[in-house]
Amino acid sequence: MGRTLKFNIFRFNPEDPASVARMDPFYLEETEAMTLFIALNLIRENQDPTLMFDFMCRAGICGSCAMLINGRPDLACHTKTKDLPGDITLLPLPIFKLIGDLCVDTGTWFRAMNERVGSWVHTSKTFDPQEEEERMDNALAEQIYELERCIECGCCVAACGKANMVPENFMGATAFNRIVRFMIDPRDERKNDEYFEVVGNEDGIFGCLGLLGCEDTCPKNIPLQDQLGMLRRKMGFSQVKHLFRALLPAKRIAK
Ligand code: SF4
Ligand code: SF4
Ligand code: FES
Repeated sequence: MGRTLKFNIFRFNPEDPASVARMDPFYLEETEAMTLFIALNLIRENQDPTLMFDFMCRAGICGSCAMLINGRPDLACHTKTKDLPGDITLLPLPIFKLIGDLCVDTGTWFRAMNERVGSWVHTSKTFDPQEEEERMDNALAEQIYELERCIECGCCVAACGKANMVPENFMGATAFNRIVRFMIDPRDERKNDEYFEVVGNEDGIFGCLGLLGCEDTCPKNIPLQDQLGMLRRKMGFSQVKHLFRALLPAKRIAK
């Protein structure tokens, strides 16, 4: 006999002046291999058609279904109810703008982040479609691909103590990961000093508390700790150079 699950779900529609923020209870018979995706759809179909939540791929690929599941950011589509207690509390991710109930606008945040870090290959070469593709060392291509796996779900941002303290400004682990992805890409001509202008400050890597809530919650297991460490080292070095440059004639310090 399956369990009867109790769902406590955050409800609020910022578009409706009459809406009041509250937690609504819903009850559901657990079935085998039930995921939160299945559970939420059953609740919406059979109990409350106004319940708002996001899903697209149902396969941990699109990043749209992230929410706080019993206080922890995770993807609802790959979370099985059997791995949770019978009492399940669902809240929208913090930091991001609330659209309604469990639905948040991660897109605007990620677009701004990508623009802030210049999230594209910066090259002076002109693209020639007739030319053969440039070859890249396989090991390096795999290293870049590893960091490219970010699905922009926002779990690392929601779990980040610093981002929760300064939600408007702190860049977060996903941005640091993005910067390292371009740093190791030989096609990108940006120098460390240019990255320093973007991320060498308290809203960037020097504001990171280093407690690694980001890595602990990343559903794609991206090795964020390694990227944060590498970025901190490189930007620390750039900071020392900036300091010396302020004290010594500029020509004596290599770029
Ligand atoms: S280690 Fe840095 S980026 Fe990661 S959760 Fe902590 S403060 Fe945020
Ligand atoms: S780094 Fe991980 S947790 Fe953060 S947005 Fe990307 S996939 Fe989600
Ligand atoms: S629905 Fe796409 S990651 Fe969950």
